[in-house]
Amino acid sequence: MKNKSLVSITDFSKSDYLKILELAENYEHNPVGNMLAGKVIATLFFEPSTRTRLSFESAVNKMGGRIIGFSDSNSSSVTKGETLYDTIKIVCNYCDLIVMRHPLEGSARFASEIASVPVINAGDGANQHPTQTLLDLYSIKKTQGKLDNLTIYMVGDLKYGRTVHSLLMAMSQFNTTFHFISPEELKMPEEYRILLRSLGLKFYEHKDFTDIIAEADIIYMTRVQKERFSDPIEYERTKNAYVLKDKMLTYTKENLRILHPLPRVNEIDQDVDVNPKAYYFTQALNGVYIRQAIISSILGLN
Ligand code: CP
Repeated sequence: MKNKSLVSITDFSKSDYLKILELAENYEHNPVGNMLAGKVIATLFFEPSTRTRLSFESAVNKMGGRIIGFSDSNSSSVTKGETLYDTIKIVCNYCDLIVMRHPLEGSARFASEIASVPVINAGDGANQHPTQTLLDLYSIKKTQGKLDNLTIYMVGDLKYGRTVHSLLMAMSQFNTTFHFISPEELKMPEEYRILLRSLGLKFYEHKDFTDIIAEADIIYMTRVQKERFSDPIEYERTKNAYVLKDKMLTYTKENLRILHPLPRVNEIDQDVDVNPKAYYFTQALNGVYIRQAIISSILGLN
């Protein structure tokens, strides 16, 4: 991975992912102090973020590196009309690595092609969020003890949710059985269903969310995004269709864990938070170890 950009989950191999997970486990149990001394990481966030930006910045701080960048492009020269091309060309002069979130699909790939330093995609529109996927894999492995032969239920916005797209691509390498639960407007795009068929993997699609989760090892919740509906009445009809409540977990498997990339709105009731099967807050913590592992691997420091 040394000196390479991480734009899509397909940029690296299954064995690369597994090495990142191993390294993250090492960082979790044996914190390192000064590995990034003298290194400067730029975090360019053209879209809002809490977890991704702060966990990257926490990872860099824990390893003794320095952070530059912006969390709001309104404070950059983009407001004066500067292009993404020029912004990237300039920021390369000031740092060893760029972490970028941008609303346009393909923007991270574009940045990686013109940058003289590696670029990590921290989310590009509805396309990909590969570092989220690696922390999801880490969370799944930690809670299940394995990645192979699991049953994953993905719930909510499966059309525009970049986290579910990246996760599906990664987990399709581990003989996963998928269940997709979404309204018609937000169903998993055909390209991902084609991928699963071509790999001979089982997947099932559902409209309802009650009484079907007894087989789940992982439930991966996502937010139903109001802004994606063309018909507001349709949104009103479906917005509460996929709310996970504690009582729904009564007859689920002991090893089941609930994941969510967060932020949540109302799709996981707060009564789930105290259930031992709720894992989303620890999942967000795992993002620090995974991002430490990604940064140090790309900078060739281990
Ligand atoms: N999971 C995630 O990407 O969260 P943020 O939007 O807060 O970074």
